[in-house]
Parts: sequence; C-alpha cells; structure tokens
Amino acid sequence: MRPARALIDLQALRHNYQLAREVTGAKALAVVKADAYGHGAVRVAQALEAEADGFAVACIEEALELRAAGIRAPVLLLEGFFEADELPLIVEHDFWCVVHSLWQLEAIEQASLLKPLTIWLKLDSGMHRVGLHPKDYHEAYQRLLASGKVAKIVLMSHFARADELDCVSSDEQVAVFDAARQGLVAEVSLRNSPSVLGWPSVSSDWVRPGIMLYGATPFGEEQALAARLQPVMTLESKVICVRELPAGEPVGYGARFITPKPMRIGVVAMGYADGYPRHAPTGTPVLVAGQRSQLLGRVSMDMLCIDLTDVPEAGLGSTVELWGKTILANDVAVAAETIPYQIFCNLRRVPRLYSGA
Ligand SMILES: Cc1ncc(COP(=O)(O)O)c(C=O)c1O
Repeated sequence: MRPARALIDLQALRHNYQLAREVTGAKALAVVKADAYGHGAVRVAQALEAEADGFAVACIEEALELRAAGIRAPVLLLEGFFEADELPLIVEHDFWCVVHSLWQLEAIEQASLLKPLTIWLKLDSGMHRVGLHPKDYHEAYQRLLASGKVAKIVLMSHFARADELDCVSSDEQVAVFDAARQGLVAEVSLRNSPSVLGWPSVSSDWVRPGIMLYGATPFGEEQALAARLQPVMTLESKVICVRELPAGEPVGYGARFITPKPMRIGVVAMGYADGYPRHAPTGTPVLVAGQRSQLLGRVSMDMLCIDLTDVPEAGLGSTVELWGKTILANDVAVAAETIPYQIFCNLRRVPRLYSGA
C-alpha cells in the first residue's frame, strides 16, 4: 500500500477549539467549510459536537453533508443561499443563514416558509467582498423583522486584515460596524481566528474560528496565543528509493537541483497530486527519521526528493513528515509562498487516519 497518509489528531482539534472559547469567553462556531480545511468535515464535526456551539460552512451542500452524518448542532451557511429555492431546505434542516445582499433579503420576504429563520445579517464594514452597505443595514434589519419570516437576527461582519497585528484596518472596521448597528439590540459576531488570537478588545458574542482549530497560526510572525495551538494534521509518507549521486548530477524534472557534492537522495511517495505544493522550492523543510532535512528539486505528481546526506540513519522505509507537529504547515506555506489555509485545503488522494476520537 502506498505509504502517504494524513494523520488527524482530534484531541489537538478539541484543544484548539477550547482555546478559542477560553480566550474570548464567547460562543464559538467551528468553521468546517471546505471539508474542514481538508481535515474531513464530518469527522471534525463529530469530534467537536459534544462541546461546539455550532458549525459554519460555505454552502448548503456542505451543511447537508453534516446533517446526513447525524450532526444536529446549529450549522451556519456563511454565504447564505445562492438561489432562493434553497430556502425550504434551509428551514427543513434548521440551518442558520447569512444574509449578505439585498437580493437575499427580498427572496426571504417573498418566500413562504414553514418556520421562521435564524439570520446572520452581514455588514460590509470595509472588506468589500460580501455584506450589506452600512446605509442599508438598519433598514434590512427592520425589513427582516417585519417580514415575519425571521425568529432571530445576529449581526455580523468579517475582517480583512486581522492577521496584520499592527494594522489599523480592523479597528476601522469595528468602528464602521458599531456605527451601523447603533440602536439594534442583537448578538454580534465579528471574530475569525486572527481576531480571536490577536484582537482581545473586539467584543463578539459569537466567534468563528477556522484555521486556528486546525492548529496553524494565521500570523506571519510569532504570537503568544498562537504558540499554544496544537497542529492537527500530520502529512507523512516513506522513503521508497535511495540514490547515491556524485557531484554535478541533476535531480528530478527540469534538473532544477544539481548536486553540489556527492549526496544521498531519498525519494518519497508524496507529490502535488496529494496536495503537496508544487511550488515548494529546494530547501523546504522536511523531517526524515526524526531529523530535519530538506526538499531537493521539483516536486513531481506522485514523488518528491529529499536530502539524506546528513541523515545516515535514514534509508529505505524511513518515515517522512511533510508537515505536522515538527515541520509546521506554516513553514511549508512560507517556503511555497502560500498560506496554511491553502496547504490544508489542497490535500487530496491520501487516506486520512483519525486518532483521539
Ligand atoms: C465569514 C467567515 N468567518 C470565519 C472564517 C474563518 O476564518 P479563519 O479560518 O481565518 O478563522 C471565514 C473564513 O474564511 C469566513 O469567511
């Protein structure tokens, strides 16, 4: 059997969820969209269900997958519905629903629904992605109430730059949010992972942690609370071939690496078809036989090469950690000029093995 696999530590996941709760004192929706950032939405939700206040997903397809697996906790649709004909299903399954645009508000007004909805009314407080314009916010709230189709409204917005700890943008967004919701008596939800970890002064009845649940920091720099996160996913495989090469020999596609000296090279069963980033350059850290080493040359579809020259104890069959508890996904992301979010979401083909259920 091909030795590539992703080990998912559900105990670490619960630790990270509890950290989000502990540092905010708020209710927390665990963000499990995109298959729980590649960790497996159903298994992640099952592992958290006993304690989680609810879950958040990107669309009704993801929400239905949770319900089909028996998850009964609240599930928020972060982009609401894409077409009005999803509304009956939203009602049937008790999903909570973001309203970010006036067309969604109109669709709710025109729908005939068997039960009233729980709506999270989203304000565009400065990110300019989705969310109602501040001038429309009060009126939208009043129209939802007047529609008779809504049981509860939570006021929400989303930060664009909370991962930049010395940037004033988040404070400015809070000010826009506070001004827009003046006079409205309702719970609020603002904080994603960087805001949970790095912006203690932002008040939010509900927080929406995503990346921190999976143990990766949203910051590009050291941060005290982020240092308490525990990595959840370990992507590992084994050395399937060892080569001794003299100086001056090319390694891999495009001869992107030429041995500068006699070297021992390990070939690992892991490639970009598994989600390992093809753009990770020579020098990207790996762990082999418990020792730090580095990637060499171009990543292929199913294999990649690593340096065993200074790891004599490593050989055929040695375990390789591509990311996990020692080689952080953040380190691989930095090397490959991406973010841990994408590193995790790209995972595919490898079986996921769960522990700590
Ligand atoms: C509206 C909303 N809330 C919360 C999150 C979770 O963000 P993070 O993974 O940075 O915690 C996301 C993710 O993109 C989101 O879109």
